[in-house]
Amino acid sequence: MNKLVVEGGVPLSGEITVQGAKNAVLPILAASIMSGESCVIHNCPWLRDVEKTGIILERLGCNLKRGTGEIYVDASDINKCRIDERLMREMRSSIIFLGAILSVCGRAEVGLPGGCPIGLRPVDLHLKALRQMGVLIEEQHGYLRCECGRLKGANIHLDFPSVGATENVMLAAVKAEGTTIITNAAREPEITDLARFLNKMGAKVNGAGSSMIVIDGVEKLHGTEYSVMPDRIVAQTYMIGALMTGGELLLNGVECAHMQAGLSALTEMGGRIKCEKNKAYIKSTGHINSVHIIKTMPYPGFPTDAQSPFMALAAIADGTSVFVENIFENRFRHVDELVRMGADIKVEGRSAVVRGVKKLYGANVEAYELRGGAALILAAMAADGRTEISGIEFIDRGYENIEGNLSRCGVRIRRIRV
Ligand code: EPZ
Repeated sequence: MNKLVVEGGVPLSGEITVQGAKNAVLPILAASIMSGESCVIHNCPWLRDVEKTGIILERLGCNLKRGTGEIYVDASDINKCRIDERLMREMRSSIIFLGAILSVCGRAEVGLPGGCPIGLRPVDLHLKALRQMGVLIEEQHGYLRCECGRLKGANIHLDFPSVGATENVMLAAVKAEGTTIITNAAREPEITDLARFLNKMGAKVNGAGSSMIVIDGVEKLHGTEYSVMPDRIVAQTYMIGALMTGGELLLNGVECAHMQAGLSALTEMGGRIKCEKNKAYIKSTGHINSVHIIKTMPYPGFPTDAQSPFMALAAIADGTSVFVENIFENRFRHVDELVRMGADIKVEGRSAVVRGVKKLYGANVEAYELRGGAALILAAMAADGRTEISGIEFIDRGYENIEGNLSRCGVRIRRIRV
């Protein structure tokens, strides 16, 4: 088992090139199986979730080749239409393969993904939409057995702007018979990135990024090359680190337009931020203000994935901050660990009241999910003394070489094997 060891109290200062977005590259890799040819995906981050997606692609019959920063997917010989339960449980976001497999095979058998530490993660919206597109779905023995022949375009209204459900419908619709209109679609930038990739493969997707997406089914798609958008949550995580440690940081390869809610909160909390082209610069003003209230919402509202990193910042702010987690039902697992480091946080249902303290102290803490784990690293960087963080396999799912990036900016962090 590995751990991260952090000796706090050193400013995070320097330059980091931000990785490609995990939540964009996963649906794009799933979509690549519909090309029937080869695709090259550039700016592909090297993450545990990308490795797991690669295993699924190979199980379906793809040939993969990994370069530095890109991945080659040869999807000319898809010969399986099944994802086994263990793989689905290991990475529940693989449910977005369902739409793509149905589009290629006309049938699919995938394990039920089940929940994860942050919530039950139901897939009812995915299944309701696919049934509207003519898919017969049987749920038995922990598997979804699906038959559809050729998918049919439909008017799909999502009861909630689910990112995954929007993506699954997009993948099912691009080669369906007729037109599909998705209303109340998710508007996250990762949806727009997926649409751009699909259109480069020859699809006809319009309106991505708005709450109404119109997809005209086409007969065939083809291979293409594509460069994945930057990871907006990883970017905000590093910016918070600079603020928490009194440093200054230049981020390369970012899209500030994707991070408006977070940048507004960072400015309110005392960050001096400059954005130009694909760079973002942040400098601490030496004082961290509390934030009145942060409510997580679907994009362009405040992103749930940035909630725990921002809570680490609020833990050492001057004053009291309130967080309301509206997206997932169990996304405060990092609170107990932050309290172990001296934070003063009270959770009441979906709300957490954070009273800033002068200092955090190093402790032995555990990551229970990806973004909560990142929050612990941030707290450890600002704390007095040594912190050991276990459960870092969660952090490796979404942060590429986090200890390398941070130590290059002065942070005393290393990975140890225990
Ligand atoms: C995506 O998850 C992201 N994952 C999540 O990032 C992110 O937090 C989330 O979107 C919200 O932005 C990937 O893109 C791989 P949802 P997803 O469907 O698609 C409910 C990270 O840390 N819901 O928008 O699963 C659901 O329970 C991860 O990078 C249903 O009720 O999110 C949740 O409360 C964590 N029924 C809400 O919608 C459904 O059928 C949002 O879920 C689907 C979802």
